[in-house]
Amino acid sequence: MSEPVVVVNNIHKSFGSLRVLNGISLSVSAGETLVILGRSGTGKSVLLKTIIALLDPDKGDVTVYGHNLHQLNERARLSARAGIGYVFQGSALFDSLTVLENVGFAMYQQRRPMAEIREEVLKRLDMVGLADAVDKVPSELSGGMQKRVGLARAIIGEPKLILYDEPTTGLDPLTTDVINRIILRLRRKLGVTSIVVTHDIKSAYTIADRIIMLEQGVIVAEGTPDHIQKSNNVWVQNFITGRSSDLDNSGSRSSIPAIRD
Ligand SMILES: Nc1ncnc2c1ncn2[C@@H]1O[C@H](COP(=O)(O)OP(=O)(O)OP(=O)(O)O)[C@@H](O)[C@H]1O
Ligand SMILES: [Mg+2]
Repeated sequence: MSEPVVVVNNIHKSFGSLRVLNGISLSVSAGETLVILGRSGTGKSVLLKTIIALLDPDKGDVTVYGHNLHQLNERARLSARAGIGYVFQGSALFDSLTVLENVGFAMYQQRRPMAEIREEVLKRLDMVGLADAVDKVPSELSGGMQKRVGLARAIIGEPKLILYDEPTTGLDPLTTDVINRIILRLRRKLGVTSIVVTHDIKSAYTIADRIIMLEQGVIVAEGTPDHIQKSNNVWVQNFITGRSSDLDNSGSRSSIPAIRD
């Protein structure tokens, strides 16, 4: 069997006294789509940023295609990240650049011919239904459109690994469906490996090969969409039904079950 594309080994991450990741281990195989579910503030974005080495863990390690990005200097990290697509939660577009310049940013840096950049950018914008916006600037676009531009930028270099941080949050159901189909198509046609953070349980069932649920910085459930859907795990049930699980009957913070169901 081939080496997993991403291996996360017992990572811990705190900010001052705030413990965010508390010993996360997971691996993602080539061509697999792993979905990470969890409530707001449970460390999902911190986990993704740690995987791509925008943040360093306090303890534990991460390998991507067998390389430990955290051991590289900033320059080497930058070049390793070039092969990884990253869809930021907040789009993270450059306000003063056009959509063309934002999506084609990496190609401009590589000094590729203008006509080629425009053609490649238009191809990706067409996939997300935004070819008409090519010459606009981000402030002329809605939040959902900016999100789709962020997705177009992440897939322009045809990366084999893509990390998506809430790619469909705030989008209408039809656009959500378009994004989910893109994620499925990239896997089916190009064998892309993906990690997708989402709150959207319906999207999770549609795109995931495997789902993990994070709660207070640990994995509390893991399984196929079918397994998760039928799970009696209290964290999963509370998440699906939208019930708060923060406080138990005595009013104190409930403890995290140590096992995965
Ligand atoms: N750079 C940082 N410095 C200090 N605290 C941070 C930093 N990044 C994240 N945090 C804190 O870590 C915790 C987890 O944040 P994170 O962004 O991973 O949550 P999340 O699960 O992605 O939530 P959401 O679903 O709302 O996006 C939060 O309490 C957040 O305030
Ligand atoms: Mg987040």
